[in-house]
Amino acid sequence: MSDRDPYEIIDDLPEVPRLPGHVVLSEDADRALDAIGMDIVHHAKACVRAFGDFHLALSGGSTPMPLYERMMIDPAYREMPWRRTHLWIVDERCVPFDHEKSNFGQIREMLGDHADIPPSQLHPIRADEHDADALYEAELREVLAWREKGHDRLDFVLLGMGDDGHTASLFPHSPALHVMDRLACFNRGSTVTPPDRVTMTYNLINGARFVGALVVGKKKAPMLHRIINGTESAVEIPIKGIAPVGGEFRWYLDADAARWPV
Ligand code: 6PG
Repeated sequence: MSDRDPYEIIDDLPEVPRLPGHVVLSEDADRALDAIGMDIVHHAKACVRAFGDFHLALSGGSTPMPLYERMMIDPAYREMPWRRTHLWIVDERCVPFDHEKSNFGQIREMLGDHADIPPSQLHPIRADEHDADALYEAELREVLAWREKGHDRLDFVLLGMGDDGHTASLFPHSPALHVMDRLACFNRGSTVTPPDRVTMTYNLINGARFVGALVVGKKKAPMLHRIINGTESAVEIPIKGIAPVGGEFRWYLDADAARWPV
């Protein structure tokens, strides 16, 4: 956590961008990580109080890895109720877990091996199986069904955003964008950055209680600018399709991502 005086005035922050959902703007990437990290802990504690457990879905990509590492070593995260947490994976590449491109492989290394999550509460996507999407959907339905109707949804989904506006493995113009009746599906073909993927669908993500998009760094600024000022659809910019139905959507940005012109 930052040791900065919380009342110090930061005067070079850009204006808070007008994105769909709420925007939490931090001075730098480090503070953006802590902003979403602290919200994860807050929601986890509230869900454990209300339901006895917490369903957390994490993304891969380079942006959140330092957060996962920090959650293991920084005493500020000591209150995270890992033993009551179910860990789901937002999307996965069709490779074995020990492959360097496996999201679960990386997340397990950063967090799964060190957090005190009971092994039965780790829910990787076995994306190298031919029916990985159906298996994951069945597991989601079975585990979430332990909750009362209406509460049987993911509690917190952490998303990233690619420079092309993709989120999860929902790529521009890719087949998975049109899958509305499933919780998870394969995404393949010329519009998908290889390797092939299994991804949570809009249907599942938009059913979550809380969705947080962690977007930091200068490279993301042009896409944020397009989201705010353009008229392109979610087929062209998939993160525009994120709109939780009965939940909250919050962007966690740093000043570099939010500053224009770039
Ligand atoms: C993945 C992610 C993906 C990611 C974005 C952003 O597995 O790659 O789920 O949606 O969040 O590609 O990636 P960076 O954080 O590396 O920019």
